[in-house]
Amino acid sequence: MIQDIVKQIEPLPPKTKLIVFGGGYSGQRIASVGRYLGATVLCSRREKGSKGADFIFNTDKALPNEIFEGATHVLSCIPPLLNGKDPVLSTLKTQLLNSKHLKWVGYLSTTGVYGDTKGAWVNENTSPNPQQERSIRRFACEKEWLETKLPIQILRLPGIYGPGRSAFENLLNGTTKMIDKPGQVFSRIHVDDIAGAVSFLINLYSQGNNPSIVNIADNLPTNNLEVIAFAAKIAKKSLPSTLSFDIAKETMSPMALSFWQENRKVDNELLCKKLGYSLIFPDFKSGLKNCYSKLKINT
Ligand SMILES: NC(=O)c1ccc[n+]([C@@H]2O[C@H](COP(=O)([O-])OP(=O)(O)OC[C@H]3O[C@@H](n4cnc5c(N)ncnc54)[C@H](OP(=O)(O)O)[C@@H]3O)[C@@H](O)[C@H]2O)c1
Repeated sequence: MIQDIVKQIEPLPPKTKLIVFGGGYSGQRIASVGRYLGATVLCSRREKGSKGADFIFNTDKALPNEIFEGATHVLSCIPPLLNGKDPVLSTLKTQLLNSKHLKWVGYLSTTGVYGDTKGAWVNENTSPNPQQERSIRRFACEKEWLETKLPIQILRLPGIYGPGRSAFENLLNGTTKMIDKPGQVFSRIHVDDIAGAVSFLINLYSQGNNPSIVNIADNLPTNNLEVIAFAAKIAKKSLPSTLSFDIAKETMSPMALSFWQENRKVDNELLCKKLGYSLIFPDFKSGLKNCYSKLKINT
């Protein structure tokens, strides 16, 4: 419920107008929470008629100036282009720089920029060491945003999950793979905590508490087998047999393989202890229970 997200967050400043570039899974949830907290929110998608599309942005042309009129906050949820450039800055940098009322600009990045730490913790002071092509592109986009000198905040996210995007979907359609790679963990974040943290950070920023990079992750990096087993228990589904990573990797897509090749734990101390954000779903167990309750409502 959106009320669970907003009950701990102050309303956004009066006359907040937030433009969300990339109203996909996270972007739409952030937009809903922003509206609930009193903001006017406009969300982009690439195709006319897509759910939640307030305007179309497809990186090929500038936007009508009226979109930016009175804009106080901007968030980009759009991944880098294949040439490593940021899609929003490539087309709209001048319009953004001319938007004189901007108080906060957020960029959803990934914790992939830290690269492989062989299971060690990473925090915002860890030097990025992107190894995958897509993480190298992402780090280049972070730099592009930081160099604009806009009031930018980079938000680094691990694996995003939530209703409609969790271990349950594969369990229910029989495509779950129990890949066993001892010592491997993944950090994750529930989409409601992305939305909650974004609004929380916008409010803090206006009070001058404005770190330029913040990790948004839950408290409990966990091995994938544990997550699937917990989901199966809730859904009362049996588990397929485990498959060793060495065998599974032979048939993995290059994208899936790239995720399994990196092992790190994402520290959220800055967000949750120093800045004071209180996670709605502190670990995969509370988050999966929420996903399952939505699944039951929708089926
Ligand atoms: N999924 C994860 O686990 C994960 C983990 C860490 C970070 N991230 C990053 O966090 C951000 C949000 O993730 P998400 O999973 O919520 O994203 P998502 O659902 O895939 O949404 C991405 C949005 O960007 C738009 N978009 C993509 N390429 C575009 C382009 N070239 N020009 C204009 N619009 C474009 C999409 O448009 P349409 O709506 O028209 O498709 C969509 O609205 C993304 O940058 C993602 O890469 C994701």
